[in-house]
Amino acid sequence: MSTRTFRVWRGDADGGDFAEFDVAVNEGEVVLDVVHRIQAEHAPDLAVRWNCKAGKCGSCSAEVNGMPRLMCMTRMNVFEEGEPVTITPLRTFPVVRDLVTDVSFNYEKARQMPQFAPPADLKPGEYRMQQVDVERSQEFRKCIECFLCQNTCHVVRDHEENKPPFSGPRLFIRAAELDMHPLDARDDRREAAQDEQGLGYCNITKCCTEVCPEHIKITDNAIIPMKERVAGGRYDPLVWLGRKIFRK
Ligand code: SF4
Ligand code: F3S
Ligand code: FES
Repeated sequence: MSTRTFRVWRGDADGGDFAEFDVAVNEGEVVLDVVHRIQAEHAPDLAVRWNCKAGKCGSCSAEVNGMPRLMCMTRMNVFEEGEPVTITPLRTFPVVRDLVTDVSFNYEKARQMPQFAPPADLKPGEYRMQQVDVERSQEFRKCIECFLCQNTCHVVRDHEENKPPFSGPRLFIRAAELDMHPLDARDDRREAAQDEQGLGYCNITKCCTEVCPEHIKITDNAIIPMKERVAGGRYDPLVWLGRKIFRK
């Protein structure tokens, strides 16, 4: 066991500041364990969202030493001994209180997306898919909606004005999944991604992919293929550059 210094942002939509806690840390613990100890021993009113403690519910997203992470999947031994651990709420979304942010932006964008649309004459139980098609979309179905990718994308992180036209990487993988779905009768998914979801704002920085705890290749397997299909035969310098940099 050792004692570590934690700096935790506390406040609400009107502002806040860091509170400092010296807390015991046991071998094998994750950041969320220590946050729970802070609640138990120092600050019972500290607001934090969590649920599964297994990296599967996507609730405990925060920024730990400036890096967007799941607190329940971040082991304490990744930090240098003696280094204070700083926890702040996700920056892209409005703070509700302490480490809890209002992520409803993401649900609003999801509601705006045209739903899965199977052919009208297909009855329930008649859906048949080839295994290869199942496997293609499986990667995108691993999304746990932690919204770390949405939080990290510079298009909205520092640009509130971009939120109305930009749905973000989490919704781009959904669009790509439906675009590849053999039973989706809509044939305008990629155009909708471009015109209604703001795919064109993405300049393939790949930061979303870097923070995804499910290791979904958001940029390479969803965004770039969608951009390529939108561009069709046209020359798109960003797609060319992305291929050069990321697909060597
Ligand atoms: Fe989280 Fe990855 Fe889903 Fe984005 S794509 S919401 S980072 S799991
Ligand atoms: Fe944003 Fe990811 Fe594109 S971080 S700019 S959506 S590659
Ligand atoms: Fe569920 Fe962390 S508590 S992902």
